Amino acid sequence: MAPLTLRRTRQSRAIRELTRQVRLHPQQLIQPLFVVDGIGEPQAVPGLDLVHRDTPDSLLAQIESDLEAGIDKFLLFGVPLTKRADVFDHSFTNGQIDAVKRRFGDAVWLAVDVCLCSYTSHGHCGILNDAGDHLINDATVEQLAAAALGFAQAGADCVAPSDMMDGRVAAIRNTLTSAGLDRTLIMSYAAKFQSAFYGPFREAADSAPDRQSRLPDRSTYQIDPARPSDARLAAERDDVEGADILMVKPGLPYLDVLADLCSLIPRPWAVYQVSGEQASIDLLAARGLADRDLVQREAWTAFARAGATMIISYAARRARRVLES
Ligand code: PBG
Repeated sequence: MAPLTLRRTRQSRAIRELTRQVRLHPQQLIQPLFVVDGIGEPQAVPGLDLVHRDTPDSLLAQIESDLEAGIDKFLLFGVPLTKRADVFDHSFTNGQIDAVKRRFGDAVWLAVDVCLCSYTSHGHCGILNDAGDHLINDATVEQLAAAALGFAQAGADCVAPSDMMDGRVAAIRNTLTSAGLDRTLIMSYAAKFQSAFYGPFREAADSAPDRQSRLPDRSTYQIDPARPSDARLAAERDDVEGADILMVKPGLPYLDVLADLCSLIPRPWAVYQVSGEQASIDLLAARGLADRDLVQREAWTAFARAGATMIISYAARRARRVLES
């Protein structure tokens, strides 16, 4: 038997290009955006290069420049000025969706995150009970469905619930259907883990829970990192409840989950390379310890290899450079 000669197909750029099984394209990338009420100027997000908390004006300018960079798909987070405990006002975010769609129309594909964590005074993703020790599932779901309806009516192409309450996908789907909005996609953060990688995001979205309170973190609603079977159960449920796209989040620490679920459930899969993952890449590069573009591309390649067809990445707007490097 001839000895294994794997190196023959690695010897030149040409043969490496011909043998690749995974290819990346800017078309697969979704860029997160933050639009914040009540700030006069855009603000940098600590730890994330090229990512800002935008004003309504700078949001439109940012999208314009992203389009020029070849990125036309976005995940929008609206951050209102006034925080509440139970009755939420989504008019600020609705107005931003409307403005984006009026200006760019179908040139932009706009997904909008559906959650209450930027809206609540305590930073949790839903309505807190009086004792402050848990979130009330069904009352929260009702508010989420109302928010999703408003976003869809304002023109969102996709609504993306990230709260992790039970039954929210079904509630959102029913609400959209009753309103005749049968073309709005639902992208469910189905396999969203309780992660320590969300730090920069919580600064950007103004949504960190109070660590001194009775509910100091999101472990009573997000999936335990040591409990991957819940990711499967949640994904199967959200599939049946009417999600069009399912997501694993964070990305690199949960590649095993992504690979398993992609082969198990034949829905389109998204992966979210979250803020702490991005910050670790940007910090490595800033310290001169890695090539920014090569590390980025390696991470994106891992996501595509595991089976994701779309990648939510803070570095999407750098895609041309990353993919050419
Ligand atoms: C919560 C939400 C989170 C992210 C998106 N929506 C995290 C959280 O605070 O639980 C994380 C995104 C990131 O870290 O980039 N509604």
